[in-house]
Amino acid sequence: MSTVRNREVHLVRRPVGTPVPDDVDVVTTDLVVEPGQVLVRNTVMSVEPYMRGRMSEGTSYVEPYALGEAMTGHATGVVERSDDAAVPVGSVVVHQHGWREYAALAPQDVEVVDIDGLKATDHLGALGQTGFTAWVGLNLVAGLQQEETVFVSSAAGGVGAIAGQLARARGCTTIGSCGSADKAKRVMGDFGFDTAFDYHDGPVRDLLADALKEVGRPGLDVYFDNVGAEHLEAAIRAMRDNGRIALCGAIAVYNATEPVPGPRNLLLMIWRRLRMEGFIVGDHDSRQPDFLAEVTALVREGRVVSPETYVGHGIEEAFSGFLTLLDGRAVIGKALVALED
Ligand SMILES: NC(=O)c1ccc[n+]([C@@H]2O[C@H](COP(=O)([O-])OP(=O)(O)OC[C@H]3O[C@@H](n4cnc5c(N)ncnc54)[C@H](OP(=O)(O)O)[C@@H]3O)[C@@H](O)[C@H]2O)c1
Repeated sequence: MSTVRNREVHLVRRPVGTPVPDDVDVVTTDLVVEPGQVLVRNTVMSVEPYMRGRMSEGTSYVEPYALGEAMTGHATGVVERSDDAAVPVGSVVVHQHGWREYAALAPQDVEVVDIDGLKATDHLGALGQTGFTAWVGLNLVAGLQQEETVFVSSAAGGVGAIAGQLARARGCTTIGSCGSADKAKRVMGDFGFDTAFDYHDGPVRDLLADALKEVGRPGLDVYFDNVGAEHLEAAIRAMRDNGRIALCGAIAVYNATEPVPGPRNLLLMIWRRLRMEGFIVGDHDSRQPDFLAEVTALVREGRVVSPETYVGHGIEEAFSGFLTLLDGRAVIGKALVALED
């Protein structure tokens, strides 16, 4: 048994509405490394909107974070100590114990990743849970077909940017929405969307109708929903017969303190024979090998890029980085916090 000096972020009270810095504390600990455990020095951690749900009690699909303990989430790291030949010292790993500088873990709880020609952080982005979420939503939930018309909200975000690129790689026509004109340019220029709009520019239903005219399509076959609320209602209105909606996220309502009204036009779901299905990516883990085979090739060929924005440097900035993600304006692609230089 040995110890290592570690700093980690604890949730100390449950946020009401938008979280604030006083909801957490950065705590120094002497981390105990038990015999048989591997010691990982975390290099980069992911901050994600679903973490907001875990900060509240009982409102999410995963266990809430415990008060007074380190939060968790995906991270990359380098193995510093190990007796396990399958997880050698120096290997780059991904695991679920972010929000801390060091993690002591059972070997089976870390995944050694391939960094030959790839960035370690690709395994948090396009080749990680983020890319897998996009792939599951498009393929397993929406049943995407070649050359369909696909609308993706939060198209400059981590999941959205990958969803648009995967749909594009299937020959689909892609429309994205995002929060600024600059982001819309990046969505088209860097991620290959056929068109994109800033949802602040007017009612989403009108902006979406204009976008469909611009790409010369009569309506949507697939809507990949990261946002909910007004976007969802607008997308239902723009769907073609037999269209499919993959409900991935609803960031527009995550900080709501009152129940939010649903789409007012669900009758269209009947008239147009639409299907709308929510999903949780973790339910589809058995399909990881198919996802990795397809998307690793696309990343290596440069047909899918894994965009990322560093929203913090050092464990002290991890929570402010999370708040930057929720605000969104400064973030393109996967939001990451660097835990070392
Ligand atoms: N179902 C699952 O298993 C699963 C798994 C992973 C993630 N998710 C969900 O999928 C969604 C995307 O995840 P992500 O990690 O890639 O996050 P993300 O889309 O990068 O989320 C951050 C972005 O959301 C946008 N945003 C914030 N408030 C908004 C609002 N009121 N209306 C519209 N857009 C808003 C901001 O971009 P703009 O500047 O463009 O507004 C911000 O940059 C999230 O809702 C997440 O919870 C679900």
